[in-house]
Amino acid sequence: MGVEIEFRRIGVVGAGTMGSGIAQMAAQAGFEVVMHDIEESFVQSGLGKIEKSLSKAVEKGKMSAEEKASVKSRIKGTLLLDDLAEVDVVIEAVIEDKKTKKDVLSSLDSVCRPSTILASNTSSIPIAELAAATKRPDRVIGMHFVNPVQVMKLVEIIRAIQTSKETNDAVVALAMKMGKTPVEVNDFPGFALNRILVPMINEAAYMLMEGVASAETIDQVMKLGANHPMGPLELGDLVGLDVCLSIMEVLYAEYGDSKYRPCPLLRRYVQAGRLGRKTGRGFHVYQ
Ligand code: CAA
Repeated sequence: MGVEIEFRRIGVVGAGTMGSGIAQMAAQAGFEVVMHDIEESFVQSGLGKIEKSLSKAVEKGKMSAEEKASVKSRIKGTLLLDDLAEVDVVIEAVIEDKKTKKDVLSSLDSVCRPSTILASNTSSIPIAELAAATKRPDRVIGMHFVNPVQVMKLVEIIRAIQTSKETNDAVVALAMKMGKTPVEVNDFPGFALNRILVPMINEAAYMLMEGVASAETIDQVMKLGANHPMGPLELGDLVGLDVCLSIMEVLYAEYGDSKYRPCPLLRRYVQAGRLGRKTGRGFHVYQ
């Protein structure tokens, strides 16, 4: 079928940390990118993050000023979902909320050409359920990027029971073109990465709650004792504690197993608006 050869334009829905990172990597790979969000300030913030990241690459001599200008010229921000009508593939990276993601995919299904592939960057929601919210379930797939998108090599490719092989192959090729290493994982809650990583963060939150050690010590233990680049609580702050909590809630609801129960302290931090780096405070405090 060779769908990947025809990919020229990519839509990204959601201009947050993940969406803007995905848009940047797609533009760096030579694609024309339309990045959508629901408020002008969100679009501008996403474009600002891309500008900052590209400027850093130029400063470090990893990219020329001309390349930076060319990458930027390929990214268009928009508030209109209709501007995604002609793209070949859309990667949605909106908040980790099942209803919001289903609504977005259903709207994209109406707006985009029938041939357009709809990929979701969900970190835990079953792709089969998201695919069922559209009239093109064979063209819906999970494409799970990892934070920080510019650095991390992994993209989990999650094929729902409805997803066609053509869609799968096209998206595997797309991830490679974006400089990533696609890894195919079956459609079970949490897929592979977050099934391991987020319960670890949740367990670290339990340890903090029980007074086993301070946040600094818990992080230090995993850095010094397991060679992790960041401790689990620092990592939770990087991912966003609201995202960690929603992933734990999906794991708990889907598997019905008490080993996935979200830590009450994690919930309390989210209720207090201490979401991690993005709000300046989570398990740790940031300047
Ligand atoms: N954007 C672009 N580049 C970035 C970056 C960002 N946000 N953050 C770091 N970098 C780059 C730095 O510029 C630096 O590049 P050079 O080597 O060219 O100088 C390189 O990454 C290393 O960064 P630092 O020297 O500043 O710091 P570090 O060595 O501690 O690395 C890190 C930072 C890459 C974030 C590292 O700590 C790390 O790998 N942490 C773990 C990240 C991780 O586990 N992510 C998974 C999160 S789970 C997820 O995302 C899935 C989900 O659904 C929840």
